[in-house]
Amino acid sequence: MSGIKVASDKKMLEEQAPLSWVDCYDMPGSDLFAKVSAFSQYTAGQRRAGLDFFRWAVMSPNVNRVTMRNPNTGQVREMIMLGSNSYLGLTSHPKVVQAAVEAAKKYGYGTGSVSLYSGTTELHVELEKRMARFYRCQDAILFPTGYAANVGAISALLRKEDLVVNDLFNHASIYDGCRLSGARMQTYAHGNMKHLERILKNSCGKGHGVLVITDGVFSMEGDVAKLDEVLALAKKYGARLMLDDSHALGVIGPNGRGTADQYGLEGQIDVTLGTLSKCLGGIGGVIAGSAELIDYLRFYARSYFFSGSVPTPMVAGALAMLDILENSGQLREDLWRNIRYMKEKLDETGFDTGSTRSAIIPVVVGDEDKLKSFLKDLLNAGIFMNYVAFPAVPKSRCRLRMSMMAGHSRKDLDYVLDKMAEFGKKHGIIR
Ligand SMILES: Cc1ncc(COP(=O)(O)O)c(C=O)c1O
Repeated sequence: MSGIKVASDKKMLEEQAPLSWVDCYDMPGSDLFAKVSAFSQYTAGQRRAGLDFFRWAVMSPNVNRVTMRNPNTGQVREMIMLGSNSYLGLTSHPKVVQAAVEAAKKYGYGTGSVSLYSGTTELHVELEKRMARFYRCQDAILFPTGYAANVGAISALLRKEDLVVNDLFNHASIYDGCRLSGARMQTYAHGNMKHLERILKNSCGKGHGVLVITDGVFSMEGDVAKLDEVLALAKKYGARLMLDDSHALGVIGPNGRGTADQYGLEGQIDVTLGTLSKCLGGIGGVIAGSAELIDYLRFYARSYFFSGSVPTPMVAGALAMLDILENSGQLREDLWRNIRYMKEKLDETGFDTGSTRSAIIPVVVGDEDKLKSFLKDLLNAGIFMNYVAFPAVPKSRCRLRMSMMAGHSRKDLDYVLDKMAEFGKKHGIIR
């Protein structure tokens, strides 16, 4: 790298402030850190304009109302929380907190080891058994996160010559696992069973393995996979099926056990992934399946083998959460009452909420400048929700992403609806 080149890259950066964080990543130049400087300029500009929507520091339990610090202004205030996936609001439940505190006292704060060595306590074993029962499977394995579970399980199962078939809208961690495996990858148009069948027809029975993967609840759309049809196609063509049910756990199905529970297909999915980081409000990823599969993953999933185990207080908290979850339909009823109310009112007001059937409600805006101004006004009015733009979704489908909670009161929701209507009109998003 020559000094002259660095100087000219710097000058270029000064003259041309990047327009978006995608432009930053694509920043040309011989200095690898050119994109780093570009991004720093970009974020400083966003913050000056009051448009930094990320990492607002939470200063209270992350439930329906939260105290937060605005990184743009430094102001601290109470916000209505519509940006947490702790759908049942259990993170601060006294029994969960007590279980975590007691585990910290008994076992200490963390395990200091990977699971295969000394990082498995009796509580880890109990949680794995419990999650296996939850998913009506023979066994389960606990990874550090859901991300690690996807990356580890997928890369352990697929070889270069195999084929993985993804729904286009599957989660990034699924795609990362597929890339890491080196297997060939094909994607079918979101939810399009004809397309999936075409791919399977052309590629199954040719001497290599085929794994079909679908999210249960799609994380940006909130819609639910046609699991019965996907499973029927996988079986018809002799492919294996993996279900990422991260956002379905606790929300979907008569017992809150997810998409297979909803379709009456429990115990029939080859590989089921659940995360403890959404509805259960903690950390950790679970894969459930046959006893043989789980034994295999313990030794071949590198993100399990080569990564520290989930801290014991989190494991104890998750066990307490499962007790609450398994014995309380009321919380789920409260959640669904809020989901239905919010979606119905937003649709009536003229917002585009897509085809959600879960606690994730997207509000598609489609124009990034309008989206930013809209969200800035909502945040200033004490309403927190998430900003989702390209490349997470196509530019024309950029959106707000709301996560509903059981604990939202009707007063909270009516206030949010009033402000959304007011600012939606102001910014020309609705009429
Ligand atoms: C569909 C889906 N799968 C997997 C993950 C990863 O889960 P975790 O947060 O436990 O790493 C997420 C989280 O964003 C997700 O939305």
